[in-house]
Amino acid sequence: MASGYKYIEAIEKRAGLLGICIAVMVSIGGLAEITPLFMKAHSQEAPAGVKPYDALRLAGRDIYVREGCYLCHSQMIRAQRFEVQRYGEHSVASESVYDRPHQWGSKRTGPDLARIGGKYSDEWQRMHLLAPRTLVPESNMPNYPWLENAGIDGGDIQARMRVLRRLGDPYTDADIADAATAVQGKTELDAIVAYLQGLGTLNVDTSAPPAAGTPAASGQP
Ligand code: HEC
Repeated sequence: MASGYKYIEAIEKRAGLLGICIAVMVSIGGLAEITPLFMKAHSQEAPAGVKPYDALRLAGRDIYVREGCYLCHSQMIRAQRFEVQRYGEHSVASESVYDRPHQWGSKRTGPDLARIGGKYSDEWQRMHLLAPRTLVPESNMPNYPWLENAGIDGGDIQARMRVLRRLGDPYTDADIADAATAVQGKTELDAIVAYLQGLGTLNVDTSAPPAAGTPAASGQP
Protein backbone atom coordinates (compact mmCIF):
# COMPACT_ATOMS: atom_id res chain seq x y z
CA MET A 1 0.00 0.00 0.00
CA ALA A 2 2.65 2.48 1.08
CA SER A 3 4.75 1.90 -2.06
CA GLY A 4 1.65 2.44 -4.21
CA TYR A 5 1.12 5.84 -2.65
CA LYS A 6 4.74 6.66 -3.40
CA TYR A 7 4.08 6.31 -7.15
CA ILE A 8 0.85 8.25 -6.96
CA GLU A 9 2.56 11.03 -5.05
CA ALA A 10 5.41 11.09 -7.55
CA ILE A 11 2.93 11.50 -10.42
CA GLU A 12 0.75 14.02 -8.66
CA LYS A 13 3.70 16.25 -7.88
CA ARG A 14 4.71 16.46 -11.55
CA ALA A 15 2.03 18.32 -13.50
CA GLY A 16 3.51 17.35 -16.89
CA LEU A 17 3.67 13.65 -16.05
CA LEU A 18 0.16 13.78 -14.56
CA GLY A 19 -1.06 15.39 -17.79
CA ILE A 20 0.54 12.66 -19.91
CA CYS A 21 -0.93 9.90 -17.72
CA ILE A 22 -4.39 11.51 -17.96
CA ALA A 23 -4.06 11.77 -21.75
CA VAL A 24 -3.08 8.08 -21.98
CA MET A 25 -6.02 6.97 -19.82
CA VAL A 26 -8.52 9.13 -21.72
CA SER A 27 -7.20 7.79 -25.06
CA ILE A 28 -7.57 4.19 -23.93
CA GLY A 29 -11.10 4.89 -22.72
CA GLY A 30 -11.96 6.66 -25.97
CA LEU A 31 -10.58 3.87 -28.14
CA ALA A 32 -12.43 1.25 -26.10
CA GLU A 33 -15.69 3.08 -26.83
CA ILE A 34 -15.15 4.11 -30.42
CA THR A 35 -13.32 1.14 -32.00
CA PRO A 36 -16.12 -1.44 -31.61
CA LEU A 37 -18.61 1.02 -33.16
CA PHE A 38 -16.45 1.44 -36.25
CA MET A 39 -15.84 -2.28 -36.58
CA LYS A 40 -19.57 -2.87 -36.33
CA ALA A 41 -20.30 -0.23 -38.96
CA HIS A 42 -17.83 -1.81 -41.35
CA SER A 43 -19.37 -5.23 -40.97
CA GLN A 44 -22.89 -3.94 -41.69
CA GLU A 45 -24.85 -5.57 -44.48
CA ALA A 46 -27.34 -3.56 -46.49
CA PRO A 47 -30.87 -4.23 -45.22
CA ALA A 48 -33.38 -5.41 -47.81
CA GLY A 49 -34.50 -2.46 -49.89
CA VAL A 50 -31.52 -0.16 -49.23
CA LYS A 51 -29.96 0.50 -52.60
CA PRO A 52 -26.78 2.32 -53.56
CA TYR A 53 -27.28 5.92 -54.68
CA ASP A 54 -28.54 6.37 -58.21
CA ALA A 55 -26.36 8.46 -60.54
CA LEU A 56 -27.91 11.85 -59.76
CA ARG A 57 -27.94 11.35 -55.99
CA LEU A 58 -24.41 10.05 -56.07
CA ALA A 59 -23.37 13.27 -57.82
CA GLY A 60 -25.31 15.21 -55.17
CA ARG A 61 -23.59 13.37 -52.36
CA ASP A 62 -20.18 14.26 -53.76
CA ILE A 63 -21.20 17.92 -54.00
CA TYR A 64 -22.40 17.78 -50.37
CA VAL A 65 -18.94 16.55 -49.36
CA ARG A 66 -17.14 19.04 -51.63
CA GLU A 67 -19.09 22.00 -50.23
CA GLY A 68 -18.38 20.93 -46.67
CA CYS A 69 -22.05 20.75 -45.63
CA TYR A 70 -20.96 18.22 -43.00
CA LEU A 71 -19.09 20.98 -41.20
CA CYS A 72 -22.44 22.33 -40.01
CA HIS A 73 -24.79 19.38 -40.41
CA SER A 74 -24.71 15.90 -38.92
CA GLN A 75 -26.53 12.93 -40.42
CA MET A 76 -27.01 10.82 -37.36
CA ILE A 77 -30.07 10.95 -35.16
CA ARG A 78 -29.13 9.59 -31.77
CA ALA A 79 -31.32 7.13 -29.93
CA GLN A 80 -32.48 9.71 -27.40
CA ARG A 81 -36.05 10.86 -26.95
CA PHE A 82 -35.51 14.56 -27.65
CA GLU A 83 -33.55 13.70 -30.81
CA VAL A 84 -36.21 11.32 -32.09
CA GLN A 85 -38.97 13.83 -31.31
CA ARG A 86 -37.18 16.53 -33.28
CA TYR A 87 -35.72 14.64 -36.22
CA GLY A 88 -37.55 11.33 -36.55
CA GLU A 89 -36.58 7.72 -36.07
CA HIS A 90 -33.01 7.27 -34.84
CA SER A 91 -30.32 6.37 -37.35
CA VAL A 92 -29.00 2.84 -37.73
CA ALA A 93 -25.56 1.97 -39.10
CA SER A 94 -26.95 -0.17 -41.91
CA GLU A 95 -28.54 2.92 -43.49
CA SER A 96 -25.05 4.23 -44.20
CA VAL A 97 -23.59 1.13 -45.85
CA TYR A 98 -23.32 2.90 -49.19
CA ASP A 99 -21.86 6.12 -47.77
CA ARG A 100 -18.16 6.33 -48.34
CA PRO A 101 -17.18 8.17 -46.24
CA HIS A 102 -20.22 8.24 -43.95
CA GLN A 103 -21.60 11.68 -43.17
CA TRP A 104 -22.61 11.06 -39.56
CA GLY A 105 -20.65 14.00 -38.20
CA SER A 106 -21.10 15.59 -34.81
CA LYS A 107 -21.09 19.33 -35.55
CA ARG A 108 -24.55 20.82 -35.56
CA THR A 109 -24.48 24.49 -36.42
CA GLY A 110 -27.55 23.61 -38.47
CA PRO A 111 -30.04 20.79 -37.86
CA ASP A 112 -29.40 17.09 -38.43
CA LEU A 113 -30.20 16.07 -42.01
CA ALA A 114 -30.43 12.27 -41.68
CA ARG A 115 -34.20 12.35 -42.40
CA ILE A 116 -34.53 15.60 -44.30
CA GLY A 117 -35.86 13.78 -47.40
CA GLY A 118 -39.44 14.80 -48.13
CA LYS A 119 -39.61 17.36 -45.29
CA TYR A 120 -39.74 20.25 -47.78
CA SER A 121 -40.56 20.56 -51.48
CA ASP A 122 -37.82 20.48 -54.12
CA GLU A 123 -38.52 24.16 -54.75
CA TRP A 124 -37.98 25.00 -51.08
CA GLN A 125 -34.66 23.14 -51.12
CA ARG A 126 -33.53 24.96 -54.26
CA MET A 127 -34.39 28.39 -52.90
CA HIS A 128 -32.88 27.57 -49.54
CA LEU A 129 -29.57 26.48 -51.07
CA LEU A 130 -29.36 29.52 -53.34
CA ALA A 131 -30.25 32.03 -50.61
CA PRO A 132 -31.17 30.56 -47.20
CA ARG A 133 -32.14 33.92 -45.70
CA THR A 134 -35.02 34.42 -48.14
CA LEU A 135 -36.74 31.52 -46.33
CA VAL A 136 -35.18 31.58 -42.87
CA PRO A 137 -34.17 35.20 -42.11
CA GLU A 138 -32.06 34.33 -39.06
CA SER A 139 -30.09 31.60 -40.87
CA ASN A 140 -26.29 31.75 -40.96
CA MET A 141 -26.03 29.10 -43.69
CA PRO A 142 -23.97 30.31 -46.69
CA ASN A 143 -25.52 30.96 -50.13
CA TYR A 144 -24.53 28.42 -52.79
CA PRO A 145 -25.41 30.30 -56.02
CA TRP A 146 -22.85 28.51 -58.20
CA LEU A 147 -24.64 25.16 -57.91
CA GLU A 148 -27.34 26.41 -60.26
CA ASN A 149 -24.95 27.02 -63.15
CA ALA A 150 -22.61 24.03 -62.89
CA GLY A 151 -23.36 20.92 -64.93
CA ILE A 152 -22.53 17.31 -64.14
CA ASP A 153 -20.06 15.20 -66.10
CA GLY A 154 -21.72 11.86 -66.88
CA GLY A 155 -18.42 10.12 -67.63
CA ASP A 156 -17.08 11.18 -64.26
CA ILE A 157 -20.12 9.73 -62.45
CA GLN A 158 -19.73 6.46 -64.37
CA ALA A 159 -16.10 6.27 -63.27
CA ARG A 160 -17.14 6.85 -59.65
CA MET A 161 -19.76 4.12 -59.90
CA ARG A 162 -17.18 1.70 -61.25
CA VAL A 163 -14.88 2.43 -58.32
CA LEU A 164 -17.74 1.95 -55.86
CA ARG A 165 -18.62 -1.34 -57.55
CA ARG A 166 -15.07 -2.48 -57.02
CA LEU A 167 -15.50 -1.65 -53.33
CA GLY A 168 -18.61 -3.84 -53.19
CA ASP A 169 -21.59 -1.64 -54.13
CA PRO A 170 -23.97 -3.73 -56.27
CA TYR A 171 -24.16 -1.48 -59.34
CA THR A 172 -25.07 -3.41 -62.48
CA ASP A 173 -23.56 -2.77 -65.93
CA ALA A 174 -26.91 -1.28 -66.91
CA ASP A 175 -26.87 1.14 -63.93
CA ILE A 176 -23.46 2.38 -65.01
CA ALA A 177 -24.35 2.53 -68.70
CA ASP A 178 -27.51 4.56 -67.95
CA ALA A 179 -25.76 6.94 -65.56
CA ALA A 180 -24.57 9.36 -68.24
CA THR A 181 -28.09 9.87 -69.58
CA ALA A 182 -29.50 10.11 -66.05
CA VAL A 183 -27.38 13.17 -65.25
CA GLN A 184 -27.48 14.71 -68.73
CA GLY A 185 -28.65 18.34 -68.64
CA LYS A 186 -28.84 18.32 -64.83
CA THR A 187 -27.17 20.97 -62.70
CA GLU A 188 -25.31 20.51 -59.44
CA LEU A 189 -28.32 22.07 -57.74
CA ASP A 190 -30.61 19.36 -59.17
CA ALA A 191 -28.18 16.72 -57.92
CA ILE A 192 -27.84 17.99 -54.37
CA VAL A 193 -31.61 18.49 -54.06
CA ALA A 194 -32.15 14.90 -55.27
CA TYR A 195 -29.60 13.74 -52.70
CA LEU A 196 -31.25 15.67 -49.86
CA GLN A 197 -34.74 14.48 -50.85
CA GLY A 198 -33.50 10.90 -50.67
CA LEU A 199 -31.92 11.15 -47.22
CA GLY A 200 -33.55 8.80 -44.77
CA THR A 201 -36.38 7.85 -47.13
CA LEU A 202 -35.63 7.11 -50.74
CA ASN A 203 -32.46 5.30 -49.86
CA VAL A 204 -34.84 2.68 -48.55
CA ASP A 205 -37.28 1.11 -50.96
CA THR A 206 -40.59 1.70 -49.18
CA SER A 207 -42.52 -0.36 -51.73
CA ALA A 208 -41.01 -3.56 -50.30
CA PRO A 209 -42.00 -4.59 -46.77
CA PRO A 210 -38.93 -4.60 -44.50
CA ALA A 211 -37.39 -8.05 -44.04
CA ALA A 212 -37.94 -9.66 -40.66
CA GLY A 213 -35.45 -8.43 -38.12
CA THR A 214 -34.45 -5.43 -40.22
CA PRO A 215 -34.69 -2.15 -38.34
CA ALA A 216 -37.27 0.07 -40.02
CA ALA A 217 -35.03 2.67 -41.56
CA SER A 218 -37.32 5.15 -43.19
CA GLY A 219 -39.64 8.00 -42.53
CA GLN A 220 -40.70 10.01 -39.54
CA PRO A 221 -42.49 8.29 -36.68
C1 HEC B 1 -22.13 27.63 -41.62
C2 HEC B 1 -22.96 26.47 -41.33
C3 HEC B 1 -23.73 25.80 -42.44
C4 HEC B 1 -23.26 25.22 -43.60
C5 HEC B 1 -21.83 25.18 -44.11
C6 HEC B 1 -24.40 24.62 -44.23
N1 HEC B 1 -25.52 24.82 -43.49
FE1 HEC B 1 -27.38 24.10 -43.90
N2 HEC B 1 -28.12 25.05 -42.25
C7 HEC B 1 -27.38 25.79 -41.36
C8 HEC B 1 -28.28 26.38 -40.38
C9 HEC B 1 -27.86 27.27 -39.22
C10 HEC B 1 -29.58 25.95 -40.69
C11 HEC B 1 -30.91 26.31 -39.98
C12 HEC B 1 -31.47 27.60 -40.56
C13 HEC B 1 -31.95 27.42 -41.97
O1 HEC B 1 -32.91 26.64 -42.22
O2 HEC B 1 -31.37 28.03 -42.89
C14 HEC B 1 -29.44 25.11 -41.88
C15 HEC B 1 -30.50 24.45 -42.49
C16 HEC B 1 -30.37 23.56 -43.54
C17 HEC B 1 -31.46 22.76 -44.07
C18 HEC B 1 -32.89 22.73 -43.56
C19 HEC B 1 -32.95 21.79 -42.36
C20 HEC B 1 -34.29 21.73 -41.69
O3 HEC B 1 -34.60 20.68 -41.10
O4 HEC B 1 -35.03 22.73 -41.71
C21 HEC B 1 -30.93 22.03 -45.10
C22 HEC B 1 -31.67 21.04 -45.98
C23 HEC B 1 -29.54 22.38 -45.22
N3 HEC B 1 -29.24 23.30 -44.25
C24 HEC B 1 -28.68 21.85 -46.15
C25 HEC B 1 -27.35 22.25 -46.29
C26 HEC B 1 -26.49 21.81 -47.37
C27 HEC B 1 -26.89 20.84 -48.47
C28 HEC B 1 -25.28 22.42 -47.19
C29 HEC B 1 -24.05 22.34 -48.08
C30 HEC B 1 -24.25 22.72 -49.48
C31 HEC B 1 -25.38 23.22 -45.98
N4 HEC B 1 -26.65 23.10 -45.47
C32 HEC B 1 -24.34 23.94 -45.43
C33 HEC B 1 -26.01 25.96 -41.37
C34 HEC B 1 -25.16 25.54 -42.39
